[in-house]
Order: sequence, then structure tokens, then C-alpha cells
Amino acid sequence: MAVDMKKVVALLVLCFLGTTASAATISRVEVAALETSKAHQQACASCHMLYAPSMLPARSWQKMMSNLNNHFGDNAEVTAAVNAEVTAYLKRNAAENDKRRYAKSMLGLLKDDETPDYISDTKYFKLMHDAVKPRMVLGNPDVRSFARCEACHSQAQQGKFNRIEAIIPNYFRKAGRFVE
Ligand code: HEC
Ligand code: HEC
Repeated sequence: MAVDMKKVVALLVLCFLGTTASAATISRVEVAALETSKAHQQACASCHMLYAPSMLPARSWQKMMSNLNNHFGDNAEVTAAVNAEVTAYLKRNAAENDKRRYAKSMLGLLKDDETPDYISDTKYFKLMHDAVKPRMVLGNPDVRSFARCEACHSQAQQGKFNRIEAIIPNYFRKAGRFVE
């Protein structure tokens, strides 16, 4: 069950290289689906931002779409036809079918038998947000949940994330750390 340390080390090296490179160029992590879906937008963007399909594996989308009547405590049910269309879209564009950095790293750190419900439950997400402590999210009236990517990433809706540009409302950066 232990996470492959070689993968973790490789990822940390990649993160470090990414940070130095972006000082000059701002290299964004791009996750936006290459194919968009009207059904996905209509069914899934009324309560929160539209999450890119590449941020979770196909099995997570399958599980979520079969339980929409109890979706994190809300009822997000749609007609059977819309459900089938959105499920097919999400699986077609899921992490396994995306060769970009986010999807590859996220899958690489996921156990074979793991089916995350939250993007923020994944090991890769946790590694990237190591500097972001629970009180800065749960205890922060302008954030409240990691699900609100857009509270800290101004281009989250466009599927663009960058560590240099990321902010935490009510906190500021001091010597590489976040302070109140
Ligand atoms: C009726 C409101 C509602 C609708 C409609 C809805 N959701 Fe959600 N969704 C929620 C709530 C509430 C949460 C939990 C947010 C939290 O924990 O802060 C959530 C969380 C999520 C998460 C986890 C976010 C994270 O941080 O990883 C994903 C992924 C997600 N929804 C996908 C979908 C998809 C796909 C659809 C369309 C089929 C959809 N949602 C439609 C209310 C909704
Ligand atoms: C409370 C604010 C906050 C929320 C909410 C948040 N993030 Fe972040 N995120 C950050 C910060 C701050 C960093 C940079 C951390 C660092 O510099 O160590 C970061 C880094 C990242 C990176 C790495 C970017 C790079 O350049 O390598 C990605 C990708 C990312 N976040 C995605 C997400 C996604 C997807 C969500 C929503 C599911 C999310 N974040 C929610 C604050 C947040």
C-alpha cells in the first residue's frame, strides 16, 4: 500500500524544475478538456465550477454519475439520456485519456484500487497543496472548501493553474510561506 517513493521524489524534482522555469516564463498546468460538452456544462455547472474531466480517473466519474441523487449530500440528478451523454463525455476525456502533466502525475500516484470522490483526495493534489493548511481553507470565510479552486486560482474555470499566480484570500506570501 505504501506510495512508490521513487515516484514521489521524481514528482518533487519536477515541481522544483517547474518553479524555476516559471520564474521566467509562467508555465501553467493546463487541464481544460480538448473537447467540450454542452450537456456537461448544463448538468454540472450550476452549483460549482465545471471540473475538467482529466482531473479524475474514469472509474471516479463512473461512480459519481451512478450516484447523482446523493452527490455530496445534494441531489444533482439528470435524465437518463443526459446522464449517459455526460458519463460518456467524462470517461472519454478522463485522466487515462489525457497525456498532459496533471493527468499523468495524478494517475501515477494513485493506487490501482483507489477511486477518489474528490480531486482534492488525490495524492498529487495533496502534494501540490502541502503549503495550504486546513485553516486557510475550511476556516477561511472566502474559501471554505478545496472544491472552490477558483477562490485561489483566477483561471481555474479556463482549466489553467499556476503555483506562482495562486493566492489564498486573507493570506499573503512571506519567504515562500503563507501568513495571515
Ligand atoms: C445541486 C448542486 C450540484 C450539481 C448540479 C452538481 N454538483 Fe458536483 N458538487 C456539489 C457539492 C455540494 C459538492 C461538494 C463541494 C464541497 O465539498 O465543497 C460537489 C462536488 C463535486 C466534485 C468534487 C470537487 C473536488 O473538490 O474534488 C466533483 C468532481 C463534482 N462535484 C462533479 C460534478 C459533476 C460531474 C456534475 C454534473 C453531473 C455535478 N458535480 C453537479 C453540488 C452539485
Ligand atoms: C485555498 C486556496 C486554494 C484552493 C481552494 C485550491 N488551490 Fe491549487 N494551489 C494553491 C496554492 C497556494 C498553490 C501553490 C502552492 C505552493 O506554492 O506551494 C496551488 C497549486 C496548485 C497547482 C500546481 C500548479 C503548478 O504550477 O504546478 C495545481 C494544478 C492546483 N493548485 C490545482 C487546484 C485545483 C484543481 C483546485 C480545486 C479542486 C485547487 N487547486 C484549489 C491554492 C489553492
